Parts: sequence; structure tokens; C-alpha cells
Amino acid sequence: MSAQRIEGKKVSDQIREELIAETNKLKEQGVTPGLAVVLVGEDPASKVYVGAKEKACVQLGIHSEVIKLPAETSEEELLAVVERLNQDAAINGILVQLPLPRHINEKAVIDAILPAKDVDGFHPQSVGNLVIGDDSLLPCTPAGVIELIKRSGVDIAGKHAVVIGRSNIVGKPMALLLLREHATVTICHSRTANMEEIAKQADILVVAIGKPKAIGKSFVKPGAIVIDVGVNRLEDGKLAGDVDFDDCLDTAGFITPVPGGVGPMTITMLMTNTIHAAKRANGIGV
Ligand code: GUN
Repeated sequence: MSAQRIEGKKVSDQIREELIAETNKLKEQGVTPGLAVVLVGEDPASKVYVGAKEKACVQLGIHSEVIKLPAETSEEELLAVVERLNQDAAINGILVQLPLPRHINEKAVIDAILPAKDVDGFHPQSVGNLVIGDDSLLPCTPAGVIELIKRSGVDIAGKHAVVIGRSNIVGKPMALLLLREHATVTICHSRTANMEEIAKQADILVVAIGKPKAIGKSFVKPGAIVIDVGVNRLEDGKLAGDVDFDDCLDTAGFITPVPGGVGPMTITMLMTNTIHAAKRANGIGV
């Protein structure tokens, strides 16, 4: 039996339709959600991401402001831009595109973003709220993974979820979100002993390690849902996930491709966060 391929683009398009309906409703109430994206320097991949975010805003009727700053921008100058956006009532979400040039302290910049406008979910207050289960803006990629699992018709409660990877951006918040959905959660990482054995117990396997095709069928329980967060550029220019898709196809029950799986969800969840933040800023129930 071949696994069901999870079509991230289709799910993302469906959520965007729902979000367009939401922004239309908000506009009737005089509210236009606003997102500011700050790009420092000329990183080509970052430029592509920022362009995609701007396009999504236009599609959804979200006010978008893109602030492009030269690579030599000082930390003080960047912090002043963040402060101005914190004060700007037309802006509900602030995203400073990472990575930043080396001379700028990323943590200082993330900490300066008002938590109510932290649509990346990277601020320590957002992370803390996630840990204790309070309402919070959620990191976009893990939030997108939860949507993909739910919209594939897979119940999370009571399942054993194994997350491979422990980054602050994906692995750790992913584990917390799965816990919030009542999964039994195990986190594996580069120092884990017997990773294969542990992964093989997973009903839900989420992989975010940044190593192309590192996870094959020997890590997969028959029928499991396998979510591949990895995006790796191979020498031939092609993209590959962290999971060996073809190898796992006959073992997994559901599997995400790369590209076209988790990737299309991330920006859509950023839009969801911006709309949530706008609702909260205007006292509209979320
Ligand atoms: N660079 C790559 N992915 C991301 C992301 O999700 N947020 C930000 N701020 N920068 C990124």
C-alpha cells in the first residue's frame, strides 16, 4: 500500500480562502490587518521569502509594508525601526527576516518586538505562553504542521508523536504544540541513542534536522503520518527534504513531499497570525 501524499499547497489554498472571508468580515468592521516585514541586506533566499509574504498579503487583503534596509544598518537603527512599528496602529504584525547580518544581535531584535505583534512567535513571552498553555501567537512552521495533520483527518490526542530535531524555531515549539493537542511526545536529537527504535514507535513522526534524505523507512512505523520539515538544496540544484520520500512511501500511511508539503503552509500561518493579532488589537474575539 502506498502512503497518502499530503498536498500542502491544496491545504494552504483552502486556508487562504477561509482567511479572505475573515479579512472581508473585518473590513466591514473597519479593520484592515497590517503586516510589516523588515529585510536587512541582500540575502537572495530571504528576498524570495519576503516577496512571497508580500504577495500573500495582497491576495488576502492584508495591508503590507516591506522595509528594506542596507546590510550596513546598525543594530540601533534596526531597533529604532522596530520601535516605530511597535507604535504604528496600522501594523498588527512585525516580522524581521532572519538571518540578520553578523554585526546585529538577533536576540536583541526579537526581544524588542512587542509580543502582541510577534507574528513569528519567537519572542520569549510568546514562547513562555506556549509552554504554560496561555493564548499566544504560534511559530508559523509548527502551527502549519498541526493544521496539515488535522486536515489529513488524523487525530493527535493519545498518539505517540516523535519530533526529530530540537531547534527553537521548529523542534521545540513543535513538541509543545503536539503536547497541547494531547499527544505523548518524544523529542530526538543529534545525541539521542537508538533513534531508529524510538522513531519506529511514532504514530506521528515530524522531522526537522536539516539533513537531506536522512530518514528512511527503517525509522517509520507502518501506517504512521510522516511530516518532513526539511528543505535542503542538493548539489544538482534540486530540493530535498530530511525524509527519503520514495523509500518511505510504502511504509508510511501519510507523508508530506518536499517541495509542496510543509513549505506552502508557513506563510499561510503567518497570515493567520496577522489576522489574529489584528482581531486582538481591536477587541474582536479570536
Ligand atoms: N527566515 C527563514 N524562515 C524564517 C521565519 O520563519 N521567520 C523569520 N523571521 N525569518 C525567517
